[in-house]
Amino acid sequence: MKDTIEVMISEATIQKRVLELAEEISLDYKGLTLTLICVLKGGVIFFSDLSRRLQVDVEMDFIDVSSYSDSTISSGVVRIDKDLERPITGKHVLLVEDILDTGQTLSRLVRHLSAQRPKSLKVCTLLDKPERRVINDVAPEYIGFSIPDKFVVGYGLDYAQKYRQLPYIGVLETRD
Ligand code: IMP
Ligand code: MG
Repeated sequence: MKDTIEVMISEATIQKRVLELAEEISLDYKGLTLTLICVLKGGVIFFSDLSRRLQVDVEMDFIDVSSYSDSTISSGVVRIDKDLERPITGKHVLLVEDILDTGQTLSRLVRHLSAQRPKSLKVCTLLDKPERRVINDVAPEYIGFSIPDKFVVGYGLDYAQKYRQLPYIGVLETRD
């Protein structure tokens, strides 16, 4: 099987947008300590680039969920595979995700994190695919790019665990 990947968002365009988001977030949280939560594994590249551009004090934690099995079709089940290591009660929390698709993952995560009563809870997603939305209860405060309904890989996003390391975001076409 041979996969072809067509560039949708270049490395330079991503980096420029990440800097803009970081500047906006730094202003919004000026003087505060921000608890950044990375949604593993897809969020990891965005999370590390974004965090290094922030000009506020940052604490980091990681949560791992699975919603997609090794396919491009969502199973609709969101399981928490690894929870946070530290309590977020009373903290300013920003959840950093790779992509908002049907909305199931972020909806589940926001409910899960809210239960701990953080002082504030916002969501930052690199990508948003509005056409695919099934659950509409999460509106991220920070969105990198809105994209059409295409399966994308790279910059953290995978297809069957592959292509996360690509510095750009591309549309995957699988061929036999
Ligand atoms: P949701 O729960 O349907 O919103 O899906 C969110 C999760 O599905 C993301 O965290 C990704 O891991 C995965 N996902 C959704 N769309 C894509 C895609 O185009 N490429 C790779 N992963 C995706
Ligand atoms: Mg994900």
